[in-house]
Amino acid sequence: DWTMRAFKEEAIEKIRAQVGKGRVICGLSGGVDSSVAAVLLHEAIGDQLTCVFVDHGLLRLNEAETVVQLFRDHYNIPLVHVQAEDLFLKELAGVDDPEKKRKIIGKLFIDVFEQEARKIGGADFLAQGTLYPDVIESVSFTGGPSVTIKSHHNVGGLPERMNMKLVEPLRELFKDEVRELGRELGLPEVFVGRHPFPGPGLAIRCPGAVSKPQLDILRQADAIYIDEIRKAGLYDTIWQAFAVILPVKTVGVMGDGRTYEHVLGLRAVTSTDGMTADFYPFDMKFLGHVATRIINEVKGVNRVVYDVTSKPPGTIEWE
Ligand code: XMP
Repeated sequence: DWTMRAFKEEAIEKIRAQVGKGRVICGLSGGVDSSVAAVLLHEAIGDQLTCVFVDHGLLRLNEAETVVQLFRDHYNIPLVHVQAEDLFLKELAGVDDPEKKRKIIGKLFIDVFEQEARKIGGADFLAQGTLYPDVIESVSFTGGPSVTIKSHHNVGGLPERMNMKLVEPLRELFKDEVRELGRELGLPEVFVGRHPFPGPGLAIRCPGAVSKPQLDILRQADAIYIDEIRKAGLYDTIWQAFAVILPVKTVGVMGDGRTYEHVLGLRAVTSTDGMTADFYPFDMKFLGHVATRIINEVKGVNRVVYDVTSKPPGTIEWE
């Protein structure tokens, strides 16, 4: 695509002009945006770039392996894989306010990036895959009063005291354009086509306080849900689909016993830029099949509900 090639060349020039001979750390989340940003930066500044992938214990099933493989083996981009599950889960323990959770995660990310920067003798810049809608939604809500809906960790969620300057080469792009740029940079189609995944990860898919047992349940249930969506050939039609684990238990019956387990919410939406969205109208047979599989295969869930809220008035994520 000619336009994207031109954008790419221009973006590379801009990055070189901003960074000069400086060292750059790029936070990789496993999502499309940060991956595209990382590959673009690598083309622009080569080994002045160090990618840092923070495993905060809030990732999906097998996420870490997928990302590490793509970057180290496929691209040969130096990647530091930081195990920070204990750190993040300890700081999040007992915290149930969504904005507090986001702020804690944003701060810990910066702590980890700064620690990794020190290890390589200092870094001048932190690169992130911030998109245009992230910028808008962290600042104000279109058409309404100027209020923050959510502090996206890669925009409003960052602490002010950070030592590194920000490099955000995707700041003018929408998601479909980022995917186009990813293709232009040669990222594999399965990776470019992945659903968006938020920086704060599964923490914002566990409404209320986050705990390791709940995260483990959520990871398993989410994997089954996505597996069924792929099998049904619906993955690319849907903008984003995921499971949410509720801090509520309900009574059920299995075999001849009483159960008292968590409720799991399923979400799927169509959208073009994430700014507005419609819930996806699955047929009931499909939903019933997914619910049966999850309840049979995942210990800790005995009830599944489907979210039929569009955005607005709902947001895509539950927190
Ligand atoms: P909401 O929930 O605000 O989400 O309707 C819109 C899109 O943004 C993603 N999202 C985030 N992405 N950091 C990110 O990188 C964040 O803090 C964050 N919060 C929400 C969300 O998954 C959806 O695609």
